[in-house]
Amino acid sequence: MRKKIVAGNWKMNKSLKEVEHFAKAFIDITSDSDLKRSEVMLFAPYIFLSTLQSHFSKKNIIIGAQDVSEHEKGAYTGEVSAPMLKSIGIKYCIVGHSERRKYHTETNDQLREKLIRLYENKITPVFCCGEQLEERNNGNHFNVVRNQIIDSVLSLSEEMYKNIIIAYEPIWAIGTGVNASPDEAQEMHAFIRQLFSDEAGKEFAAQLRILYGGSVSPENSESLFARKDIDGGLIGGASLAAESLYSILQSSNA
Ligand code: 13P
Repeated sequence: MRKKIVAGNWKMNKSLKEVEHFAKAFIDITSDSDLKRSEVMLFAPYIFLSTLQSHFSKKNIIIGAQDVSEHEKGAYTGEVSAPMLKSIGIKYCIVGHSERRKYHTETNDQLREKLIRLYENKITPVFCCGEQLEERNNGNHFNVVRNQIIDSVLSLSEEMYKNIIIAYEPIWAIGTGVNASPDEAQEMHAFIRQLFSDEAGKEFAAQLRILYGGSVSPENSESLFARKDIDGGLIGGASLAAESLYSILQSSNA
C-alpha cells in the first residue's frame, strides 16, 4: 500500500513573519495521528528552509527545496547546490516544475543533470511533468509526458531514480482554478505507472508514488485522491493557509 503524500509548494510567497505564522497555526491544528497516515511535505523558498526545519523539528513534516542547481559548485551566482541542501539536512527537492521550465527555460537534459546531483547527495526528487492545453487539445499529452519522463528520468540507471516521486501537473490546471477531473488525472497517472512498469518493472511501478498538481483545493482533493493511481497532491495556492492545507490532509486520510 502506497502512503499518500500531501505536499505544499509555496512557490515565491510569504515573508518570514508569514512563514512563522503558518508554522504555529499548522502545528496547532494537526495532531500526530493526522501526520501518521499521510506524509506532509512543504516545499519552501531556500531562505525559509532552516526556519521551517526548526519549527517542525518535533513534527513529522518534511521540509524540501523547490529547485536545485545542476552544477555541483563554483561560479554560479544565485544558485544553490545539492551538497548545500544536503549540508542543512534537506532530503527532498522539486525538479522540473513547469514554472522553472517556462521562465528559466530548463530543458529535459538539464533536469536530468539535476536528478544526478540529487542522487549523489541522497536527496529524493519530486519530478514534475505535464502538458500544455494545446498539447492536450491536439491529443499529444501522453507523448509530451512520456518524453519528459524518458529524457530526464528513465534515461538514468534505475539506481539513480529508484526513490523518485512523480508529480503530474498539467500546465493548464496550475493556478487557474480548473483542475484536471479525477478521470483525466487518473488516466494520466495510470499511463505514467505503466511507463515505469514497462521500463523498470511491475514491482517498481507498484510502489512509485505519483502526485497530482493543478488547482487542488479542499473541495476537490478527496475525489482526486480517491482514484487508484493518485497518491496525493502537490498543492500551490491552497497550501499557503494552514487551514486549507489541513483540510486537504484530512481528505487524504479519508
Ligand atoms: P496550484 O495548486 O496553485 O494550481 O499550483 C499547483 C502547482 O504548481 C504545485 O506545484
